[in-house]
Amino acid sequence: MTEGGVYPHRFQGQGPENCKINDMEPKIEHSEMSAPRQIHPVDPVFTDWTVQRQASVERALECLIDGCGAQPPRLLDAMRYAALDGGKRIRPLLVYAAGELSGASDPALDLAASAVELVHAYSLVHDDLPCMDNDVLRRGKPTVHVAYGEATAMLVGDGLQSLAFAALAQSVDRSVSASAVVKMVAELAAAAGAHGMVGGQALDLSAVGHTLDREALEAMHRAKTGAMLRASVRLGWLTGPQAADSDGAFIPSELDHYANLVGLAFQVIDDVLDVESDTQTLGKTAGKDSEHNKPTFVSLLGLEASRTLAITLRDEAVTALSPWGDRSRRLIDLADRIIKRRA
Ligand code: IPE
Ligand code: IPE
Ligand code: MG
Ligand code: MG
Ligand code: MG
Repeated sequence: MTEGGVYPHRFQGQGPENCKINDMEPKIEHSEMSAPRQIHPVDPVFTDWTVQRQASVERALECLIDGCGAQPPRLLDAMRYAALDGGKRIRPLLVYAAGELSGASDPALDLAASAVELVHAYSLVHDDLPCMDNDVLRRGKPTVHVAYGEATAMLVGDGLQSLAFAALAQSVDRSVSASAVVKMVAELAAAAGAHGMVGGQALDLSAVGHTLDREALEAMHRAKTGAMLRASVRLGWLTGPQAADSDGAFIPSELDHYANLVGLAFQVIDDVLDVESDTQTLGKTAGKDSEHNKPTFVSLLGLEASRTLAITLRDEAVTALSPWGDRSRRLIDLADRIIKRRA
């Protein structure tokens, strides 16, 4: 770590390690007629793994945010409020699980995991703004604009997004090749940007009060949510040495297929939970989609067919991992968690 770099207020070597993206995804092809398979019971080893990995990304995020030189103190405070101590950390967990498959080191994965979570946290802050979904509750707390005001909330999002790219750039200091890091930066930019999450959010806003057909709804969900989940898997994989061959960094199509499917399944379940769950369990206001006239999988297919679709997507995602056998256990567990979650 060099002075004036990502952590200008830390001494050399006091980065997170010591503190203890591309073209749009291809159309998903899936058969809704296939019978859902048995979802595995929760494995206690998986639970321990998630707790450890969630703690790792929490430490890394805290070091990144505290070390980024945010000023004035109120901005730093608000960035911490937005990104720390909350959320399921599903995207970081996907980074770690995919990285374990490609032999990535833990310190390098901490940075990639932090990068996707920082972009995600920023997207939530902006998603909740009065000009977007106008939400007052997120992760069980008042939203950032409620706690700090709209202008600060907007700047928090901007600051978290920049920090995400700064974090990724630091991967070269953790034995990730410069060419892989460049690819990772491009992956994250594409997933976060106008062809990914931001474009999906724009589609979401323009769809208010309209009925979308299945194809349009799926395209919106793949962009606004699926792109960042897909990028999480891809970044995790790219972090490891096995992602490189003689032509440079590559991503196996089977892994990408898995990533696409779980990305869509995640938002299908988000739509379901908005109807089925309650505000306290969710930590965000339930029932917002119908209140705001948003087209969702539930409004299009109904609750039961939406859940069945999510299970089918999960089954196909798990099948795509078969080349790795039991080595992909964590990714399978995460696909299960994504569809079984209650919040
Ligand atoms: C919520 O994401 C927003 C969507 C993209 C659907 P999560 O459900 O992952 O939210 P946190 O990170 O756990 O709070
Ligand atoms: C948000 O989708 C997707 C983002 C890019 C943040 P939603 O608007 O459905 O997410 P929630 O339900 O507010 O978490
Ligand atoms: Mg929204
Ligand atoms: Mg919202
Ligand atoms: Mg939602």
